[in-house]
Order: sequence, then structure tokens, then C-alpha cells
Amino acid sequence: MYNDKVMEHFMNPHNAGTMEDPDAVGSYGSPVCGDMMEISLKIEDNVIVDAKFKTFGCGSAIASSSVATEMIKGKTLDAALELTNKNFIDELGGLPGPKIHCSVLAEQAVKKAIYDYASKNGLELEGLKGFDPNAEEDDHHHQVEEE
Ligand code: FES
Repeated sequence: MYNDKVMEHFMNPHNAGTMEDPDAVGSYGSPVCGDMMEISLKIEDNVIVDAKFKTFGCGSAIASSSVATEMIKGKTLDAALELTNKNFIDELGGLPGPKIHCSVLAEQAVKKAIYDYASKNGLELEGLKGFDPNAEEDDHHHQVEEE
């Protein structure tokens, strides 16, 4: 069901854990499965110099956040905001269909961390236009209504 690259990142995740004095933290709860992800960032001159993740999510969430944290390191905030869960899945060489939502945790937690940083520092970032930090709740309501 999982390719070798997904298994490798699941067995040996990169950047798992927390950091001291992060410059930004973002957490996101999946409206689909209820799992949580937290991303912490160190930022210098609007460049992400370090990233760590912590998740209660499944193996696909672990693998997705492992590649996500690798991919955002060294990127500017603007460049990191352009990455989506699709980029993380591509980097992993694919995820099974029912596990796509797990990679959304990584994307949203990264976006929320950057949003946190931008709000604290009065930064206007193009990639955050229209970003709603409370979107998970809206999604959730949406889902409940559908059920
Ligand atoms: Fe919840 Fe994968 S099932 S993160």
C-alpha cells in the first residue's frame, strides 16, 4: 500500500519534535480524521532556517510532515507558502487515495505557523491573502452538515 519512500520517512522521520524558542508555531486539526499536527519554525530575514513537527496523525501524516519540513527549510516565507500538500505527495512518490487528507495536515500547519509569524511581525505576505486560520472549524461544520 505504501511505497518505499513513504515507509522510509515513516520509519526515520526527519525533523520530528519541538525546538526551543520557536519564532512561529502553527497547529492544525484534520476535519477528516481528527488528528493534529504542530509545526514550529525558526525564521531569519524571512527565511525558514529550521522546522520541526509533532503529530498525533498516522504514518502518512508523519511521512508528509517529514518531507514538508525538509522542503520548507532554506525557503523564504513566500516560497514556502507556495508549497501545497500535492508537492509533499509528489516528493513522497504518491500516497494512497484515502490518505491524501493526512498530507493536508502538513500544508495547513505550515501555513498557520507562517500566519502566526506574519501576524506577530506585521508582515503582509501575498501567499496569505484569503488564508483563514480558522478554516478547519468551517470545514468541520461543513462536514457535519453533510453527514
Ligand atoms: Fe489522520 Fe492520517 S488518518 S492523519
